[in-house]
Amino acid sequence: MKINKNLVLIGMMGSGKSTLGYLLAQKLKLVFIDIDHEIEELEKMPVSKIFKKNGEMYFRAIEEKITLEILKENSKSVVSLGGGAFLNKKIQDLVLKKNISFWLKWKNISIIKRLKNFSKRPVLKNMNNEQVDNLINDRSKIYSKADYIIECDNLEKSEIISKIIKIYENQ
Ligand code: S3P
Repeated sequence: MKINKNLVLIGMMGSGKSTLGYLLAQKLKLVFIDIDHEIEELEKMPVSKIFKKNGEMYFRAIEEKITLEILKENSKSVVSLGGGAFLNKKIQDLVLKKNISFWLKWKNISIIKRLKNFSKRPVLKNMNNEQVDNLINDRSKIYSKADYIIECDNLEKSEIISKIIKIYENQ
């Protein structure tokens, strides 16, 4: 495969970026990088704890730094971004410039069902269903800038993976 671009997964929390990213990397025999995991390794604590201890601004600054570094250092990896990362203009610009990006799109109601318990997610902690629905609508406008949109409702995991691989290998 001559492709020299990272395969980047974007989308809401609960959209399957980490699980599908891992499986995609296995199938494509590429390195898998989960940005949230990298942040947790660096900070030596879970994302939820970083939010609690240092606040969202601190998390977003680290997220920006690490995401930009990883995207610049790699040219052929599968990278799963955190759900809020693509809202950052610097990250968005770099993702769109040098990588092949896929938005794992689900109906709002599916995301809400998949997330089950908002309390585990620092950004959603104090939100009700309607507020999460509004957040998904706002973010969707931005996620839709991804190179490709994968409509995930009604697809098996294996079908999502095949669709992405087919597009990636045809670059
Ligand atoms: C966030 C999503 C999380 C994590 C942080 C903020 C967001 O990542 O980066 O809790 O703003 O959507 P996942 O999408 O991998 O859960």
